[in-house]
Amino acid sequence: MSSTLIVNARLVNEGREFDADLRIEDGLIAKIGTGLGARSGERVVDAAGRRLLPGMIDDQVHFREPGMEHKADIATESAAAVAGGLTSFMDMPNTSPPTLGPDALEDKYARAQGRAWGNFGFYLGASNDNLEAIRRLDPLSAPGVKVFMGASTGNMLVDDPEVLDNIFRDVPTPIITHCEDTPMIDAELARYRAKYGDDIPAACHPDIRSREACMKSTQLALSLARRHGTRLHVLHISTADELALFEAGPLIRADGTRKQITAETCIHFLRFDRADYASLGHLIKCNPAIKDASDREALIRAVADDVIDVLATDHAPHLLEEKARAYTGAPSGLPLVQYALVAALELVYEGRLTTSQVVQKFAHAPAQLFDVAGRGYLREGYAADLVLIDDTPFTVRREDVLSKCGWSPFEGRTFHSRIAATWVNGVLAWDGEQLVGSPNGQRLMFDR
Ligand code: DOR
Repeated sequence: MSSTLIVNARLVNEGREFDADLRIEDGLIAKIGTGLGARSGERVVDAAGRRLLPGMIDDQVHFREPGMEHKADIATESAAAVAGGLTSFMDMPNTSPPTLGPDALEDKYARAQGRAWGNFGFYLGASNDNLEAIRRLDPLSAPGVKVFMGASTGNMLVDDPEVLDNIFRDVPTPIITHCEDTPMIDAELARYRAKYGDDIPAACHPDIRSREACMKSTQLALSLARRHGTRLHVLHISTADELALFEAGPLIRADGTRKQITAETCIHFLRFDRADYASLGHLIKCNPAIKDASDREALIRAVADDVIDVLATDHAPHLLEEKARAYTGAPSGLPLVQYALVAALELVYEGRLTTSQVVQKFAHAPAQLFDVAGRGYLREGYAADLVLIDDTPFTVRREDVLSKCGWSPFEGRTFHSRIAATWVNGVLAWDGEQLVGSPNGQRLMFDR
């Protein structure tokens, strides 16, 4: 494989921003330094002072394959992700069939081979009756086990208390949870249905899928994890209330130990709030629900203050015609991978976060949390998964959306940074305008 030299870059890595050159060789970061001279035959890219980051690792996507390829598939969504600077993804088990055992898991890895533009990992899902499959899971075969402690797309609710207790006791990998209390949500939904029928206003979504429902379920997950010493990662925190439940401070503590229990929020909770239902309606209907401006503010602060450990997307595409249905029939979830990093960098532009914090939450932290081997950092010997940021504003247009569903909740919004280039395993995959080459993603490996 030929080598590439990126010169005059502003590297952002492990809490530092510094000027350097970076050489890619055989898919890896071969050298980071200043004044690296180009070798004969070497491709040279002048970064002209622009920011160069490790590719983001999105630990929460729904790429819909197998079974819902009319909405999305691994090829289309990973292409959108790479265009957005996300070079690795971890995909959720609520597919059809759901990923409940080793065969379904390996089927997904086989599907991704040669078709995924980014590096890929697939979660095993939990159900009320696959405890044996969870116990027997090879920890090198999946980033973790996903437990829906609240029902959402795909009907994978685990609500048997004994099963939950056993899963938390016996799981051989980190557990990741969707925390919302389904009985509370069902009761609220019945109340709103009695008033409105199926045509409930979209703005009621955060009252139906309430903050109390989030709190109750998150508390249950934390108590189970504490009882059994489980490594627990609570996905998509959407309320200020839940933040008090989590330990503030770096994911890897000063003494080198790692937090046992970690929290994640998603880009839509930092960029939208209740006021946006008026213009976007079901387009921003998702589970958990986007809540109040005060929650959004608290969540941004919690990212900055290290209460939230990980930033992800929960990319969950649905078709516009599905979203156009009445409330009770409109599916939850929104496509996010293509514009998630630029949306996060908008918080840097606004002075709310630093680029280092975005890199920590969106690249280093998922690698630390899931023991991802050889990725997530700008380090010599690590995979050359890289993203170059150009500070030229652009406005999101529907015709530029690469996700199969063909729309974005950010349409019409202007971002102040764009993705100038993305390399996956040392190969240019996005040149700032279009995808180039062919899918080059690899199976994620775990050092555990
Ligand atoms: O909004 C959501 N959509 N939340 C989930 O938990 C699932 C996801 C989906 O798969 O559509």
